[in-house]
Amino acid sequence: MIKIEGMAFRYDGASEYALYDMSLDVREGDFVGIIGPSGAGKSTLTYVLNGIVPHHYRGDFYGRVEICGMDAVKAGPENLSKYVGSVFQDVEGQLLSSVVEDEILFGLENFGIPREEIEPRIEYALETAGISGLRHRDISSLSGGQKQKVAIASIIALRPKIMILDEPTGELDPQSSRRMFETLRELNGRHGVTIVIVEQKIMMLCEFAGRLAVMDGGRILTEGAVRDVLRRSEVLEEAGVNIPRVTTLSRKLRDRGLYDGSTPVSLAEAETMMRTSAGNAEI
Ligand SMILES: Nc1ncnc2c1ncn2[C@@H]1O[C@H](COP(=O)(O)OP(=O)(O)OP(=O)(O)O)[C@@H](O)[C@H]1O
Ligand SMILES: [Mg+2]
Repeated sequence: MIKIEGMAFRYDGASEYALYDMSLDVREGDFVGIIGPSGAGKSTLTYVLNGIVPHHYRGDFYGRVEICGMDAVKAGPENLSKYVGSVFQDVEGQLLSSVVEDEILFGLENFGIPREEIEPRIEYALETAGISGLRHRDISSLSGGQKQKVAIASIIALRPKIMILDEPTGELDPQSSRRMFETLRELNGRHGVTIVIVEQKIMMLCEFAGRLAVMDGGRILTEGAVRDVLRRSEVLEEAGVNIPRVTTLSRKLRDRGLYDGSTPVSLAEAETMMRTSAGNAEI
């Protein structure tokens, strides 16, 4: 679905490469989380996937990026947008309309969606994003979190094969963040939408994503199934990524011979780990 090989990119005027020697494979139906410190190149990677780099942000570009069988650089942002829906880190800059429903309508009309399909799609998108009540609101009157949901709704309406989200929960409280992840899980599980999400809330990411890629200094340091990546905690530490506390705890319990199960990625699994370790400590 997404195949990146030996890709490097340096913004015009920059002395360093923002992305360097990058390779990544994302299969159809994957739910991939991207983590890494500020300046790691996470947003730049999302720009490559929707064609903004190197078409809008120009610079030296090397390597090959294939998306849905197309050469991403040759295809360009307009062709890619038929397959790839993006929610940007700077969500304000993404919203072009003044009223919520117009924002969703705008994309649908741009895509030439037939008239009779438009209303059901608007309703579905608003409902899925959990903002049916905001349909007629002025976007300028909304909170940052609500704006993020509008951006997501307008992408959902277009039914992309791939959704790329750059820190979409940045303005959301933990409960709304969880709801957003649940929405993504449903789009992924039920509709087979491939998800690539840049996220700081690592514990939540680990619970919902199937795979993790850790970035630092324009490169992917490690990548794989969530549990496997969490176990490489020295790589996460090197990248300055906040390791979930249960991961640190599972390592300590493992070091003391109290636990040899898998690394927990949810609260329920953490509880099981604690019970097992407590049982072992008594023996
Ligand atoms: N439009 C731009 N022009 C020039 N350099 C840029 C531009 N955007 C980003 N960069 C540089 O590219 C590098 C990677 O930035 P990027 O925004 O991709 O990182 P990030 O991992 O998304 O960081 P953050 O967590 O802060 O969002 C940084 O050194 C940054 O200064
Ligand atoms: Mg960023």
